[in-house]
This record gives sequence, structure tokens and C-alpha cells, in this order.
Amino acid sequence: MWRVASKQAIRVVGSTAAGVLPLSKQLHVLRGLLLLGKILQASPGSKKIVGVFYKANEYAAKNPNFLGCVEGGLGIREWLESQGHQYIVTDDKDGPDSELEKHIPDLHVLISTPFHPAYVTAERIKKAKNLQLLLTAGIGSDHIDLQAAADAGLTVAEVTGSNVVSVAEDELMRILILVRNFLPGYHQVIKGEWNVAAIAYRAYDLEGKTVGTVGAGRIGKLLMQRLKPFNCNLLYHDRLKIDPELEKEIGAKYEEDLDKLLPKCDIIVINTPLTEKTRGLFDKERISKLKKGVLIVNNARGAIMDTQAVADACSSGHIAGYSGDVWYPQPAPKEHPWRYMPNHAMTPHISGTTIDAQLRYAAGTKDMLDRYFKGEDFPPQHYIVKEGKLASQYQ
Ligand SMILES: NC(=O)c1ccc[n+]([C@@H]2O[C@H](COP(=O)([O-])OP(=O)(O)OC[C@H]3O[C@@H](n4cnc5c(N)ncnc54)[C@H](O)[C@@H]3O)[C@@H](O)[C@H]2O)c1
Repeated sequence: MWRVASKQAIRVVGSTAAGVLPLSKQLHVLRGLLLLGKILQASPGSKKIVGVFYKANEYAAKNPNFLGCVEGGLGIREWLESQGHQYIVTDDKDGPDSELEKHIPDLHVLISTPFHPAYVTAERIKKAKNLQLLLTAGIGSDHIDLQAAADAGLTVAEVTGSNVVSVAEDELMRILILVRNFLPGYHQVIKGEWNVAAIAYRAYDLEGKTVGTVGAGRIGKLLMQRLKPFNCNLLYHDRLKIDPELEKEIGAKYEEDLDKLLPKCDIIVINTPLTEKTRGLFDKERISKLKKGVLIVNNARGAIMDTQAVADACSSGHIAGYSGDVWYPQPAPKEHPWRYMPNHAMTPHISGTTIDAQLRYAAGTKDMLDRYFKGEDFPPQHYIVKEGKLASQYQ
């Protein structure tokens, strides 16, 4: 609002004063108007909102619904600016000279996505004197030091449920890609080769295999529902048992003890958040107890695994295939060992950022901003940190 007002005012000064006021007076008036602009900008209710997203470059204009990138900015720029808020969007997020770092001291709201996470450390929180709200456009707010956010009285919220179908579908695809040994066949084709045996000696059917999900929340349940028609043996581990009706419908069996579940599985899928309890859960020792030849799909978070232990177990063949889209840190550096380990089917972090997912998490983020401006509560399932307390699974 202030931007529009001051632009119009500058136009007025330029046209009327050009012939009437001397240059020094014109400058004086202009300085006054700029000051007015600043006052309006800082007026109560006007917020500085920073969004950190991945950059789309030449792909930005290819789809009008591509909202999750820097260029798309979640599609909320006009709406925010029409209400007098300032909206800065960047992909430059890491290090002391980054664009994000410049805005840390005076931003009110920071929006980020797990696909290109703005790492919000305790140090950044300490510097962010105006910060009130941290929004995750997607699911998983582990890029934020949640305890530091709670201690500073900040609110952290995400768009719970927004991309769970996108991830569950992607996990099913990754299971099939690993079980059927699909990628080596694809690579043969593009390299002009033809060697059926090199693929067939370790390609299997999914039917009859034991699949265990570690975490049976929204994504875990959707995955098990999708796996049911494949006639697998379905097992799950979680802090909580799922509703008995649904358990019966899916035909999944609960295992309270994770270390009893894991050695039974031909395929393990990780579906828990990254918390202090799940960080490094799959270390060298736990991996050594898995079935030899196990396949692992992890779209949850990279840091749930011990990076080197996974790479070593893929090299030894103890893990016969590892696929996922989550890494630590992100973007993954060129030297990340998972890029080079054998029998992997890794991708950049993409499963939860389909166009359908983007439309849902953009709408969810806009809804929370709207409620924040109006002083209203968010839907309860969206809160990760509220009034100094972490959501139960993060405690
Ligand atoms: N790759 C992607 O694009 C993408 C997208 C969405 C979510 N995710 C990740 O997937 C995670 C799960 O998403 P969701 O929507 O299913 O969340 P959810 O909250 O619905 O489910 C998480 C489940 O994990 C269980 N859990 C938590 N801590 C546990 C522990 N220590 N031991 C056993 N079980 C535990 C919870 O009880 C819950 O049932 C997110 O937190 C996020 O990290 C990734």
C-alpha cells in the first residue's frame, strides 16, 4: 500500500513541481515523502514476510500452477502487498552473506519449504528480534531448531496433510523400482546396451514380501492402503497403534518393538518425522541387524539414517537397494556419499512438491497468514510449536 501511495506522490511532485519549485525544494519534498513511506511501512499491522523456496529459472513459466518456487512465491505476492505487507522471496539461504541472513534482524514471518530448507538455528533465532511466526509450506519443520523457537516464544506451523498422498504414491513407486531392479535396465537402454541377465538375477515380485513401515501416521497409513492390493505381509511400528477398524481393513500387524519388526522385513519404509528420538535411528548397529538384502525407502528425512552406515551397507550388499528423496543437508553437496553408493535410486527432494501438492500447501500457507493477520488460531493439527510447547511427537 505504502509503495503505491509514494509512487503516485512522487509522480505528482515530479510533474507539478518541475515547473514551479526549485530543485532543492523538490528534493526536500521527496525526502519527506520517502520518510512518510518508511513510517507507513513500519506502521503496526504491516509485516515483513520472507519466503525461502527453490529457484525454477527456465521452468518457472512452463506451468501457471508452479507456485512452490521463488518465481511463483506461493502465489501470494499480490494479496500480501495489497494489504501493505512487504514480501521478499529468495533461494539464497545459507551462510552469513546470504540474502536470508540480511533479513533475519527485521523479518516478522519466515516461510520455508522442506525441499529447499531455510535452516533456522538458535543463533538465527537470537538475531531475529521481530520474528513471530515460522511457517513450513509442506510437512516437516526439522529445519528449525524447535526448542530454540519454543524458548523464544515463536509459533511454528506447517500445512499438515498437504502432500501426504504425493509422498505415499512416490514411496510405492520407489518400492517397485527397487524390487524390480528397474534403474539398471533404464541405464542400459540409454547407454545402447542390452543385457537381460544383469537385471534379472536380482529382480523380484512384490507379492508375498514383508513390508514394514516405521511410522504409521498420515503417509504410513496411505502407503499401507496402497500396498494392500499387492498382497504383501504388512507390518508397522509407531508410538501409537492405529484405529482397529483401519488396521483390519488394511490387514497390517502392529509391532511395538522396532527391533523385533526390522529383522522380519524384506522392505522397510521410513515414515516418522525427524525428532531427537529418530535422529540417527538407523545407525551401524541397527542396520547390521536387518535382513541381508533388505530394501529401504526413506522419504521421511535423511538424518534419520547414519549417512556413512547406509553407504557402507549398500557397498557390502547388506542393503540391496536404497531409495529416497531426503538428504542432509539440502541441497546435497556433490561429495555426499549417497550419490555414489551402489544400488541406490536417490533423487533430489521432490516427492512432496508435485503441482497438486504445491496448490495445497500454498493455499494452506495463505490461510494461516490470513489467520495470523486477523489474530485467529490455526487448525490445531498444523501447530509444531505453540506457546512455548512442542507438538507431542517432537517432545
Ligand atoms: N519427502 C517429502 O516430500 C515429505 C513430504 C511430507 C512429509 N515428509 C516427512 O514425512 C514425515 C511424516 O509425515 P506424516 O504426514 O505421515 O506425519 P504424521 O505426523 O501424520 O505421522 C508421523 C507418525 O510418526 C510417528 N512417530 C513419531 N515419532 C516416532 C517415534 N520416535 N517412533 C515411532 N513412531 C513415531 C507418529 O506417532 C505418527 O504416527 C514428516 O514429518 C516429514 O518429515 C516428507
